[in-house]
Amino acid sequence: MNDDVVGIGLLGCGTVGGALVELLAAESATIAARTGLTLEIRRVAVRDVAAAAARVPSLDRSVFTNDAAAVVADPAIDVVVEVMGGIDPARELVLAALAAHKPVVTANKALLASHGPELHAAAAAARVDLLFEAAVAGGIPLVRPLRESLLGEPIRRVMGIVNGTTNYILTRMAEQGVSYDEALVEAQELGYAEADPTADVGGADAAAKAAILATIAFGVDVHVDDVATEGITGISAADIAFAHRNGYVVKLLAIAETDPGDPGRRVAVRVHPALIDHDHPLASVRLSFNAVFVEGEAVGQLMFYGPGAGGGPTASAVLGDLIDAASNRLQGSSASLGVLAPVEIVPLDELRCGYYLNVQVTDEPGVLAAVAGAFGSNGVSIRSMVQEGQGDAAGLAFITHVARESDLRATIAELDGLDAVRRIGSVIRLVGEES
Ligand code: NAP
Ligand code: HSE
Repeated sequence: MNDDVVGIGLLGCGTVGGALVELLAAESATIAARTGLTLEIRRVAVRDVAAAAARVPSLDRSVFTNDAAAVVADPAIDVVVEVMGGIDPARELVLAALAAHKPVVTANKALLASHGPELHAAAAAARVDLLFEAAVAGGIPLVRPLRESLLGEPIRRVMGIVNGTTNYILTRMAEQGVSYDEALVEAQELGYAEADPTADVGGADAAAKAAILATIAFGVDVHVDDVATEGITGISAADIAFAHRNGYVVKLLAIAETDPGDPGRRVAVRVHPALIDHDHPLASVRLSFNAVFVEGEAVGQLMFYGPGAGGGPTASAVLGDLIDAASNRLQGSSASLGVLAPVEIVPLDELRCGYYLNVQVTDEPGVLAAVAGAFGSNGVSIRSMVQEGQGDAAGLAFITHVARESDLRATIAELDGLDAVRRIGSVIRLVGEES
């Protein structure tokens, strides 16, 4: 490293990378004054050089290339920032950077949640940083507090809204009656969505974040495939309207918790839409904002809140990591994630909560008794039921008392077999009322 001038290699210059270039240009004098570091973007890898150079005129065209491996290997590059997304070639590039003893800052939750142990081991072996504040909850400082401030805290649960795109869609549908498709296009235009937005609406993006949160909160090895995942694609305007009439809000939640009976050995990690009471603090988290509750035995309950997606907030998180990685490298130090213990994942079948079910039925005498019987025979107690619509449009909206997921699934299977049931619509869990 040349004195305190740090050469940055940027892999990707889209929503996040472009915002980082702008933020760094605006703040580099202040950063230099406060830290003694001059952060210099020396090379930028993209797929389409001409388009990126036109989009980011503040950088000389000569820094752009479509050879990402050459950026990583360039001796003028001291720290690599990976904001290209996806698994390949991002994985090979990050591993190559770490093997060359170059610290890496990444916003890539999909990569970390599927190849985390390999990447963290490579960083530890090379004794360089692999920092990823931007990978979870956009601009909210959450990863560093969990990794550092709360390292000694017996954390029992992390729960929150961690996907800005879906929170934006659900808010626009609930508050302005905008259609799902329109709201998704808006979220894409605002730079919140992933390159493939099915990762947002299908829950995979939130699942990757849930896996990362569980890993760092509990010090265990949780893979994205360990996360029971449902997205918002099945949520209808009617579900949202029902929720509103009954004092609830629909939110996509990520929840990671230890098994109260055996906190060291088993964790449950899931992502799904949930009905939460409109008085719950998460109900007021609107648009692309995220919020995460962290519950620990000693500290009690903490709430982290802020912008969860978009170029500016995410670039802010990347830049904080970049300054940290650059100064750690100058001092010859690095932060390690430590030992990640193997852990047993609690099956979703063991979950206990209340449920909302929308059941489309034929509007005939005796139907209600048959439908209610399916709940009773599987040990699921009905808390409330309303009939909405008539004739072919007749729907029964049930809310159950707390039940076991496996019993609810058995109820649904039995309902499905009844002649009177035309279709099972949405099934949404209630969160915040478990006791
Ligand atoms: P984006 O707008 O699609 O930008 C991706 C950039 O990477 C583009 O510049 C693209 O080149 C480049 N790229 C992709 N594949 C490449 C390859 N094989 N070789 C060279 N360049 C390649 O994505 P983004 O929204 O900035 O997201 C980037 C990362 O940040 C993702 O991991 C995402 O999950 C994460 N993230 C995003 C947000 C957000 O709000 N957007 C928030 C937190 C984290 P071209 O310009 O030529 O297409
Ligand atoms: N697509 C992600 C979201 C970006 O909407 O939350 C932030 O990680």
